[in-house]
Amino acid sequence: MLEEKIFLKSDVEKTMDNYEFLGLKKSLEMKSEDIVKKITDSGLRGRGGAGFPTGKKWEFALAQKNDVKFLICNADEGEPGTFKDRFLLENMPFKVLEGIIIAAYAVKANFGYIYIRGEYSKAIDIFEKTIKEAYHRGLLGKNILGSNFNFELRLIKGAGAYVCGDETSLINSIEGKRGFSRIKPPYPVQRGLYDKPTVVNNVETLTTVAEIMKYEDNIFAKLGTEKSRGTKLVSISGDVKLPGIYEIEFGSGTLKDIIELAGGTKDELNFVVPGGLATSILKYDEINIPYTYEDLENAGSSVGSGGMIVVSQKHDLIDILLNVSDFFVKETCGTCFPCREGNRNIKEILLELKKKGYKEEYKKIIGELREAILLAARCGFGQSSVNFIYSVLDKFFYEEVR
Ligand SMILES: Cc1cc2nc3c(=O)[nH]c(=O)nc-3n(C[C@H](O)[C@H](O)[C@H](O)COP(=O)(O)O)c2cc1C
Ligand code: SF4
Repeated sequence: MLEEKIFLKSDVEKTMDNYEFLGLKKSLEMKSEDIVKKITDSGLRGRGGAGFPTGKKWEFALAQKNDVKFLICNADEGEPGTFKDRFLLENMPFKVLEGIIIAAYAVKANFGYIYIRGEYSKAIDIFEKTIKEAYHRGLLGKNILGSNFNFELRLIKGAGAYVCGDETSLINSIEGKRGFSRIKPPYPVQRGLYDKPTVVNNVETLTTVAEIMKYEDNIFAKLGTEKSRGTKLVSISGDVKLPGIYEIEFGSGTLKDIIELAGGTKDELNFVVPGGLATSILKYDEINIPYTYEDLENAGSSVGSGGMIVVSQKHDLIDILLNVSDFFVKETCGTCFPCREGNRNIKEILLELKKKGYKEEYKKIIGELREAILLAARCGFGQSSVNFIYSVLDKFFYEEVR
């Protein structure tokens, strides 16, 4: 039976008095370059969804010659089925803060923002208090813990747009502009907030950094597999008996084991969404694969944000498809024509499917629309908006041969 591997979830935080900020203290005694190297060596990949190596991102940022750099903690968490960042913000705010300060010090950023999803009122309340107290204790502001390092941190509340979780839309949103994605390159590490080099990292990524820096030894690097190091917080919801947040060591079990850890399914399993609605589904007979980046990619899906949605056979597939399609139609920022109109067309096709029954041409047209969106989408929203819908159609819908 798979067991949770507690790495990130260690340390009970009650007050700042009983939290030692060990990772931060050790980091402030190191050179920025050495911290970046330790994170590169750890093999940590960004936990926001794209899985980009954190050390690489920081190397690029550190190499930028600019007196002003920014560090942004992405706590927008709009990906349906994902709620692990909320857990961290509400239960481990000091460790989140610690990761933010370490990252800023490592890339030489003196200004930062944490952008929290507006609906997370409890997390916002907790983090506002955390920032205030950190200033009071000399953990933020000038000459942090006597190190000569200065760092100012502000909290921004999101206003409910899924696309604002994309790092470039989020940067526009902080600048007070509409949450439209920017064309890349330039990447935020080159020209981000107010055109200055900017590192955007996810809450879980930064919290993991704090934990990695706590130990002399790089113990994170020894967990998991070669390509998927460490542990990952998986938020499991849907038709499982014990939904919640589970910390899983990569490669220690299969998707099936994780579902069992979450109490098993309530009814007969139909499919699993492994990493939020941006990822392709895996059918009930495809989940006996190790939980790693590489195994999920080989199976045509992705670890994504770690938002695992378990769906039993009691649900109507067409209703689910329409629900998901509606989400993408409403949330597109509308800048790229194929993403905006393509998603609308897909919804119309699905409505026709519901009325008239399935035809093979529906799958063909949706497949073509997906290709067009993939080619023309400016951001990851468009690129991933049809993954769920197409994979459900592909795996469950066939025209009856008469
Ligand atoms: C539509 C869309 C929504 C996203 N939402 C989030 C989010 O809520 N939180 C997050 O950390 N990353 C989100 N991302 C990914 C970010 O653009 C970015 O890759 C991430 O914050 C980088 O942090 P990481 O390297 O630590 O993963 C989203 C991307 C897209 C395209
Ligand atoms: S791909 Fe979609 S969400 Fe992203 S910029 Fe284009 S229209 Fe906006």
